[in-house]
Amino acid sequence: MREDSSNHTQSLYNDARRLIPGGTQLLSKRPEMFAPERWPAYYSEAHGCEVTDLDGRKYLDFTHNGVGACLLGYAHPRVSAAVVDRIQRGSMSSLNNPEEVALARKLIDLHPWAEQARFTRCGGEALAVAVRMARAATGRDIIAFCGYHGWSDWYLAANLSADQALDGHLLPGLSPAGVPRGLQGTAIPFGYNRLEELAVIVRDHGRNLAAVVMEPTRNTPPLPDFLSGVRQLCDDCGARLVFDEVTTGLRFRQGGKHLDYGVMPDMAVFAKALGNGHPIGAVIGLATTMEAAQQTFISSTYWTEGVGPTAALATLAVCAEVDVAGHVRHIGEAFRDGWQSLGKKRGLSIALGGYPALTTVTFAHKDAAALMTLFTVRMLDHGFLAGSGFYPTLAHQPEHVDAFLTAADRVCLELVESIEKGDVQARLGSPVKHSGFARLT
Ligand SMILES: Cc1ncc(COP(=O)(O)O)c(C=O)c1O
Repeated sequence: MREDSSNHTQSLYNDARRLIPGGTQLLSKRPEMFAPERWPAYYSEAHGCEVTDLDGRKYLDFTHNGVGACLLGYAHPRVSAAVVDRIQRGSMSSLNNPEEVALARKLIDLHPWAEQARFTRCGGEALAVAVRMARAATGRDIIAFCGYHGWSDWYLAANLSADQALDGHLLPGLSPAGVPRGLQGTAIPFGYNRLEELAVIVRDHGRNLAAVVMEPTRNTPPLPDFLSGVRQLCDDCGARLVFDEVTTGLRFRQGGKHLDYGVMPDMAVFAKALGNGHPIGAVIGLATTMEAAQQTFISSTYWTEGVGPTAALATLAVCAEVDVAGHVRHIGEAFRDGWQSLGKKRGLSIALGGYPALTTVTFAHKDAAALMTLFTVRMLDHGFLAGSGFYPTLAHQPEHVDAFLTAADRVCLELVESIEKGDVQARLGSPVKHSGFARLT
């Protein structure tokens, strides 16, 4: 157990809350999402699965490892070497980088149904590009979707309706303030594995439906005829099918997870793991839809820099040589098995969601959020970043999982005691974590 001495990290975050509205650029990296006033908001170095905070404390990362971006682990030597080389030769110029052509070719090789590619630098903007192309290609406005797809107006428009339509789609409480009210009715949600809900949207809006946007899977596998049913409904009404592989891409197999299901979209969108921590987003698809990028203006200066495509090529090269997906599945299974046994041993009810490569953890208890916050705070003392989700990386080894479980076992002993005594909040002594989008006060 370590002593809490200097606290440069916390004081910097207090400054940030004044200087940067919302504190950070990404909701999932707010300390409030883990343990308000306790979480080490900043890092000085990150290698493999180890992060060093500004006070020199080291943690093994058992959370989302760069929000799913660093599938190969932090600062993967091969990706870093390729990126450094590109930077030293100039990663930006008045001319284009050749790596983007190689990347287009590589992604199309991996997804033989696709014919063309466009690149951005982040997932949300890649989705916005895909939606724009679908709307341009069809001359239609409405998007049916399920799941989370970023911060753009096209998506948040769903929450302009009174019923907070997005609440069931990964992140609750997303406010559409600032999204033009005229977009109301242009983004309509349906539930995953609820083909009948999409069928109703197609029945009512099929002639104005530009696209169906969804992850091929996220937490649960598709029911046997779900994805093919979605494909059929799109074909029946002429809407484009867009698979969002921003989080799933490369994590379950080389390329997109949809390849496993044998249902091909009109477009697929990648980001996060594609650059292993370097910004790159990609939209790949059929020319019949992608060529719409020539009818509408889709263009940005930094979509032409060379680091993103270089990092993506190096990441894909590692994935071609090493069974990355097999490794993260194996690590995720060990993590889940360990939690299950720990829960049984300590009499704590643990709910594990998602897949081994993309696991969520909750305490099935009325004080679930407070218990998880206390767990996180105590795990920091043991040298672990830990919370309600674990996205394993190639850098995690079985011995890291063993060390995590040994520490978690000791912390859970205290959790059980705190449940018995009813003093979870008192032990915590700081606020409970947030569970969704909330204004920072
Ligand atoms: C499925 C999915 N789509 C889109 C996004 C948005 O990507 P980004 O945060 O890179 O803009 C995310 C981010 O979590 C995601 O999980």
